Amino acid sequence: MANPLFTKKPLDILMKESGDSAHGLKRTLGKFNLMALGVGAIIGAGIFVLTGQAAAQYAGPAVSISFIVSALACAFAGLCYAEFAAMIPIAGSAYTYAYATMGRFVAWIIGWALVLEYLFAGSTVAVGWSGYVVSFLGKNMGIEIPPQFTAATGSELIKTADGWMAHTNELVTSLEASGISIESLPHVTAIVNLPAVIIVMLITALLTRGIKESAIFNNIIVAVKLIVILLFVAFGWQYVHAENWTPFIPDNTGTFGQFGVSGILRASAVIFFAYIGFDAVSTAAQEAKNPQKDMPWGILGSLLICTLVYILVSFVMTGIAPYQELNTAAPIAVAIDKAGAGLAWLSPLIKIGAIAGLTSVILVMLMGQTRIFYSMANDGLFFKPFSKIHPTFGTPYTSTIITGIVAMAASGLLPISLLGELVSVGTLLAFIIVCIGILILRYKSPDLKRPFKTPFFPYVPILGIICCTGVMAFLNGITFLIALGWLAIGLVIYFSYGSKNAKY
Ligand code: ALA
Repeated sequence: MANPLFTKKPLDILMKESGDSAHGLKRTLGKFNLMALGVGAIIGAGIFVLTGQAAAQYAGPAVSISFIVSALACAFAGLCYAEFAAMIPIAGSAYTYAYATMGRFVAWIIGWALVLEYLFAGSTVAVGWSGYVVSFLGKNMGIEIPPQFTAATGSELIKTADGWMAHTNELVTSLEASGISIESLPHVTAIVNLPAVIIVMLITALLTRGIKESAIFNNIIVAVKLIVILLFVAFGWQYVHAENWTPFIPDNTGTFGQFGVSGILRASAVIFFAYIGFDAVSTAAQEAKNPQKDMPWGILGSLLICTLVYILVSFVMTGIAPYQELNTAAPIAVAIDKAGAGLAWLSPLIKIGAIAGLTSVILVMLMGQTRIFYSMANDGLFFKPFSKIHPTFGTPYTSTIITGIVAMAASGLLPISLLGELVSVGTLLAFIIVCIGILILRYKSPDLKRPFKTPFFPYVPILGIICCTGVMAFLNGITFLIALGWLAIGLVIYFSYGSKNAKY
């Protein structure tokens, strides 16, 4: 008898499910809406928050090169996603593709890894949201939130001329270089990141109640987000001081990953987070009018737009402000403040744009998470209540509420750098498995109808596997330990529940 670990969900059942309209959703999304959905899910904390930290700690102005490196890894994986999404247009994304090609066990692992991606991405972006809200309230409205309630539990904050900042070696060095002793400045230890907890709570409530995020609403937020970012690029350009770009690649400090070439690669692993979300387009496959043709557009088009935007923003940001000063929760805001009075009009706009934009990312990520849990529970691999739909609201409410509680705890207690890297590990694992899935399926089922074919087969999926593994290798060691712990919990759940209740 075949090993049940490798039992596959039959493709004909998947195709049938993809034909049914899931959750009563209508096929309303065209090419343009799908691209907007992708851009809406992609542009978030990565560019608005992590770019500054990646520049300050690892790459300096060369963070723009890191964006190109990361984009390559995503492009290879994106092509493979596009092939799958056009071929099996069903919600569930990488989890579903793995179930069809590599069997139940790998599908479980990937579903569990996607929790790291979607759930923790929701938390990470909530921390970024908090940074911009605190900055907007403090600098633009004169409302100070006590610093103890604005950062991860236990983190040290120091009050500088530019406001409260995380205590890091780079900050100390930069302050000391300007003759300021760190001891002379006020400092506090944070208790909890309250605004982050509150936004996750509000979004969880909305998702439970059944907000039907309409394409129009999403398109408006995406437009706002893109417009403020392009305003920053267009007007910020005039305030660039070329000396901030020299040296463009700061010398390595002697520690691997701190500046120099290894720093660029380390930074590309950190800002990989900024690209996450194009894969979320594939979860909307059941709402696409013509998934066979439009999924590749949605996935690859949104990736291309965001790559261009990111390279431009990182250039301007590091050109306006010395990279050492960008290690804050709101680096674009810092760069604008640095430009002085001439750009002051943009300050509230960029913050409002960031706050609106980050809100939509949290919403999409948490909603994506509930769908993954829902698909897994429907297949019998995850606890049954997660597939329960509320009789009045029509939402998977148990799944939504539990996801919300865990996301709230993570966003209130953990620092954004750790959260961001956890998300990246989960996502990279999913990307690698999707690339392997394409290889397997091309050889095992060569005759399946493939409306979109990854070009340069088998090089693209192989390069995807190599690049994503490479990016992963540059993540923090601690992140891997936590991810392994996560996997261990997953294995316990799989063997004690999933393998016993699986439907296929
Ligand atoms: N790419 C998304 C962001 O940067 C997750 O917020």
